[in-house]
Amino acid sequence: MKICFVSSECVPYVKTGGLADVSGALPPALHGLGCEVKVFLPLYQSINTIDHELTFCADIMNIPVQIGPHTRTFNTWYGKLGDSEVEVYLIDCPHYYHRPTTYTSDQDEDERFILLQHAMFKVMQHYSWSPDVIHCNDWQTGLVPVYLRKLYNWDDLFAQTATVFSLHNIAYQGRFHSSSVERAGLLYDDYYPGGPYELKGAFCFMKAGVSYADKISTVSETYAKEIQTPELGADMDGALRSRSYDLVGILNGIDPGEWDPATDPLIPQNYTFKKIEKKQVNKKKLVERFGLPYDESVPVLGIVTRFAVQKGLELLQPIVAPLIEQHGVQLVVLGSGEHGYEQFFQRASQRFPQNVGTYIGYNNELAHWIEAGSDMFIMPSRYEPCGLNQMYSLRYGTVPIVRKTGGLADTVHDFHEFHTKGNGFSFVDFSPFALYTTISRAINLFRKTESWRSVQERGMSQDFSWDASAQRYLDLYEWAIERRLGGY
Ligand code: ADP
Ligand code: GLC
Repeated sequence: MKICFVSSECVPYVKTGGLADVSGALPPALHGLGCEVKVFLPLYQSINTIDHELTFCADIMNIPVQIGPHTRTFNTWYGKLGDSEVEVYLIDCPHYYHRPTTYTSDQDEDERFILLQHAMFKVMQHYSWSPDVIHCNDWQTGLVPVYLRKLYNWDDLFAQTATVFSLHNIAYQGRFHSSSVERAGLLYDDYYPGGPYELKGAFCFMKAGVSYADKISTVSETYAKEIQTPELGADMDGALRSRSYDLVGILNGIDPGEWDPATDPLIPQNYTFKKIEKKQVNKKKLVERFGLPYDESVPVLGIVTRFAVQKGLELLQPIVAPLIEQHGVQLVVLGSGEHGYEQFFQRASQRFPQNVGTYIGYNNELAHWIEAGSDMFIMPSRYEPCGLNQMYSLRYGTVPIVRKTGGLADTVHDFHEFHTKGNGFSFVDFSPFALYTTISRAINLFRKTESWRSVQERGMSQDFSWDASAQRYLDLYEWAIERRLGGY
């Protein structure tokens, strides 16, 4: 099967969150199942073509794309994704992609991804490459299913091509002023209240994808249900309910090449469950790296996250002091984003210099150290489509403490002393009290080494590799093709 995979971020080239991990790992897993996969993404300024061994495609240069009144041009670079045989095409348009950040709030944010979506079709046309499925991800690629039906339907190359649209986070929808319809090259005939790409008076890329894709997926089964409710649907629930039959949840996998304590080259000491005592070396190095005193018996709580409202960090704010005063915990935090959270954690480190370590910024190596060196990992998310860090934590024997929502609910099973299934701790109420009591429960168990080990073992022995999920995507592709060939 031939798959065109289009995304706005992809490891190892560019990453702001979990979408990049998925884009870097799912295509190689699909390749392993016999698919031919081509990945498309923008060549942002931050991507160094030499470091990533990219080749300039001299045969696809200066290709024009009309965006409203402007004719923009793009070049194309080519590479192989990591060690795999998956081909990556990077769309080079300095006018749009040479900006200080991957995403912007610039006036032309819509145009930046309109260009990507047109460019993808044009590169496929150039190579006369006819994919069976175009797999789109998040709002930045939501127009692709519309383009296939409205703008590129004249081209026989795509006559049999189906589309799958994956929602990684429905809070980011790509809503723009109605004038963007024209810049996108679409007609106003289909733009009306409640229409396929109108949402709350705006032109919405995500709604377009939801309306026109053959099949829709999201990244966990619980989130697939949650987004069809008004509470967690972010205004998209109506559109999603109307496509309920075509919507599935497929849990993300994790890349065992990147995240395995037995082989991880970024952590100080490799270990397995059989040699779990070696994890202590990582704990010691971790707290020392943060300038905190080391004591084996002190529980270390780790956090690695974007500082965004989604992540529920306000639940932690009122309980940091009580956790330290009553349980003597240490907290190591890696993250960046909203200023208020950055300030809070920086101040907490100043107030509790023996107990709180904060690193503001993005640091992949440190993320690995925190997964390897912490005893527990905290994710009190308000909502969480899938979440990857809890799966990394399970694999590293770092017991996750999560709010029971979305993918966290599907992967972390609350420990209870009367049954033996739990691999972590979870709570339902979005309240500091619920988080506090859950962390307290975890700390009590942490003191009982044998029971703690059994929770760690259950997590470490789980299989979160991409194999099963990639197979489910293949089934979804087949289903999308069936729908496409059966007529819309
Ligand atoms: P989201 O995509 O909503 O941010 P996920 O849990 O799916 O949440 O994925 C987050 C990914 O980004 C993980 O791989 C995590 O380790 C990484 N990450 C988040 N913040 C940082 C940071 N400050 N430094 C390094 N890695 C980070
Ligand atoms: C989003 C979600 C996160 C998910 C990731 C990859 O960023 O917030 O929960 O794991 O996408 O699908």
